[in-house]
Amino acid sequence: MEQAAAQSLHPETWGLTRAEEGLCLEGKALAGLADRWGSPLFVIHAGRLAENVRRFQQVPQGRTRGAEIFYSYKTNPIPAVLQKLSELGAGAEVVSPYELWLALRLGVAPGRIIYNGPGKTPGIARTIVQSELLLTHLNHREEIALVAQAAEEFGKKPNVGLRVATSDSWSGKFGVPIAGGQALAAYEEALAHPSLRVVGLHAHRGVAIEDARTLERFVREVLAFCDTLHSRLGLAVEMLDLGGSLAVPTVLPLDASSLPLAERVRRRLSIEQYLALLFERVEDHFRRAGRPTPRILLEPGRAMTGNTQMLLCRVSSLNEAGAGPSHAILDAGENIAHILHREYHEIFHAERWGDSPGGTYTLDGPTCSPMDSLRTTIELPRLRPGDTLAIMDAGAYLVSFSNSFCFPQPGIVILDQGRETLVRRAETYEDMIARDLHAGGAA
Ligand SMILES: Cc1ncc(COP(=O)(O)O)c(C=O)c1O
Repeated sequence: MEQAAAQSLHPETWGLTRAEEGLCLEGKALAGLADRWGSPLFVIHAGRLAENVRRFQQVPQGRTRGAEIFYSYKTNPIPAVLQKLSELGAGAEVVSPYELWLALRLGVAPGRIIYNGPGKTPGIARTIVQSELLLTHLNHREEIALVAQAAEEFGKKPNVGLRVATSDSWSGKFGVPIAGGQALAAYEEALAHPSLRVVGLHAHRGVAIEDARTLERFVREVLAFCDTLHSRLGLAVEMLDLGGSLAVPTVLPLDASSLPLAERVRRRLSIEQYLALLFERVEDHFRRAGRPTPRILLEPGRAMTGNTQMLLCRVSSLNEAGAGPSHAILDAGENIAHILHREYHEIFHAERWGDSPGGTYTLDGPTCSPMDSLRTTIELPRLRPGDTLAIMDAGAYLVSFSNSFCFPQPGIVILDQGRETLVRRAETYEDMIARDLHAGGAA
C-alpha cells in the first residue's frame, strides 16, 4: 500500500475543518478532545450517524418503498450507538443470546429484530422462539429441526428463513450453498415442519461489495434461487434479506493499485447507488416473473457506522535507530485497531495536518508483539511525543475486536452538535481484574 500511503484524502471528507489548534470536528479540536477525555479515545460523530441512517432509509427514486434496515450489532456494539440507531428507526440484527438480550434491553421491539448466525444450541433456539422475533435465519440444516422442536415445545410458529451461500459469498460454516441443490433441499426440509413459518431468505456476501458489478452478480444469483424456490417448492419468499457487506468508500483494501486514492474512493458504490441498483434489479425481476416483490431487508454494518467514528491516539515515543522509517510508537495498536492490518484507513496528524512532511514513519502499537504495527510507511509532519493522530473510519470492527492485551481499552465520546458526552469510560486496571476471583494482592 505504499502508493496509497504517499497520497491522502482530505479531512473535509469526514467533515473535519482546519483551525489554528489543528483539525476540528464541529468546532472541537481533536487534540483538545484527547486532552479532556484521555488518549486513546474513540469519537463518534452523531450527525454523521443520523445521516447514514437517513441515507439507508431513503426510498430510492422511482420506487414506492425502501429497504427495512437492521443494523448488524457485532459491527460496533456500543450501547449508546445501538440506542441511537434504534431511535432513528433501524432494527437490530443479532447473532448471539447476548446481542439479543442487549437489543431487548435497549428497548428494540422483538418485531424489529432478526436473529442470525451459526452456532445455535437448543437453549438459544428456545430463547429465540419465546422472543417472537421478526425473523430467525437458520444457518444450516441441523438448525431446522432444532428451532422446529423449540417451536413445538412452546406451541409457537416462528418466522424463519434459511441462510444460503452464493458462489462468491462467505461459505464454509456460513449457510447452505445454493450450488448442488443443497439450499433447495434445506428449504424442502424446513417446509415439512408445520411449526415453522418459512417466509425468509438470507444471503450475506461477507466479502465487501465495492462496485456495481459485484452487487449485480450477487443479487442475480439470489433472485435466480427465489425462482427455483417458487417453481420447485411453490414458495414465494416474503422477506428477502440481503445481509450487509457494502464497503465504506474511504476504507480500501491493502493492495498495490496505482490509481490515485481519491479516484479509487470515487469509484466505490455509495449507499444511494447501492440501494438504487438493488431495488431496480429486485423489482424488475419480480415484475417480469409476475410475482409480488418481497420486502427487502438489509443488515448493514460497516457502511452504516464505519465512517461515523474515529480513533484518536498519541505518539508515546520515537525509535529512530536503524535504517528505514523512524518508528513512532503510539498508545494504540493492534489491541484496538487490528483491522488496519487488512485495510487502508486514512490517518491525519491532528495538530499539524497540512504542514509539509517532516519524515517517513512506521506507526507501531505499544504492545510487545512484533505484529503490532498499524502502518509500515506514512509521511507525516515531523512527529514529537505527545502528538495526536486521528485514525479515520474507526466505526466498524475496531471496538468489537478490541482487547485488553497489555493495556486497558479506551473511552468513547459522542460528539453531537458540538456537545461532548462520554458514553463509555476508559477501562481501569481494576476493571481488568474485576472478574478474577483470586486477585487479593497486598492489602
Ligand atoms: C449475517 C451478517 N449480516 C450483516 C453483517 C454486517 O456486515 P458488513 O459490516 O460487511 O456490512 C455481518 C457481518 O459479518 C453478518 O455476518
